[in-house]
Amino acid sequence: MAKVLVATDKPFAKAAVDGIKTIVDGAGFELALLEKYTDVNDFYAAVADVDALIVRSDKVTKEVIEAAKNLKIVVRAGAGYDNLDLEACTAKNIVAMNTPGQNSNAVAELAIGMMIFMARNAFNPGTGSELKGKKLGIHAYGNVGRMVANIAKGFGMEVYAFDPFVTEEQMEKEGIHFCRTAEDLYSTCAYVSLHIPATEKTKNSINYDLLSKMPKGGCLINTARKEVINEAELVKVLEERTDLKYATDIAASNQAELNEKFCTRVFATSKKMGAETAEANINAGLAAAKQIVSFLNDGVTKFKVN
Ligand code: 3PG
Repeated sequence: MAKVLVATDKPFAKAAVDGIKTIVDGAGFELALLEKYTDVNDFYAAVADVDALIVRSDKVTKEVIEAAKNLKIVVRAGAGYDNLDLEACTAKNIVAMNTPGQNSNAVAELAIGMMIFMARNAFNPGTGSELKGKKLGIHAYGNVGRMVANIAKGFGMEVYAFDPFVTEEQMEKEGIHFCRTAEDLYSTCAYVSLHIPATEKTKNSINYDLLSKMPKGGCLINTARKEVINEAELVKVLEERTDLKYATDIAASNQAELNEKFCTRVFATSKKMGAETAEANINAGLAAAKQIVSFLNDGVTKFKVN
């Protein structure tokens, strides 16, 4: 009987775990759970005899892959799979997948919530501003970016986007102003919402050059990954431009320094919470379980990323 492990440092909502169990039991497989683990050795021990693995942002390193002698498939229940060592998976013939789009709405709603929070002085007394009529730049027009754009249009924002993989024609059809370069986006928009993945190419790419181009009062919202920010240059630009703001769902490595230096001009959630809704947990968790069943039973490799 195939064994499926759900290993989540940040557990799914109970309804999602129940739904995963129903799918796994229904396929005649066995489900094992490892939640809120604090010692990576517990992860190594738990994967030792499993055929399939579901994770969230949990790091599936070479060591995890080495420890997982029977592993055939790992599914990252979510969009970004920078936490999976794809090379190690491929070397052992293990299929790696994500569940694109399943938690996007939760992240998009958080991005908009953070914009309101920053526009209203981090909910402190004093005069804030409105989103209506402001220019919003979507940096990467994928699943989350599109949803942020749609909600923002409802707020009366003027939406721009930069994405080298989406054509001008497509964006215009969807009522989005096309930006040819990231520089265009940052120099045009009062708010920029980041939705790029963390890859070798994008790491540290949000730097002084880009941020210093933002219009007066500009605010960067990061619900993507901290690795895409050049943190030293972020400090430099916030020092020089006392009008700029930064809100993130992934605390920077130097967050304590940022908080001390820039007070309410910066904000970080205490633990990454973009996908922390019951709906997103259910959508992504159940999709992961279904993908595993389809793969183990029928060899379906849709959403394979390696
Ligand atoms: C994703 O890439 O899907 C999000 O960053 C969600 O991450 P999480 O599952 O750790 O909340």
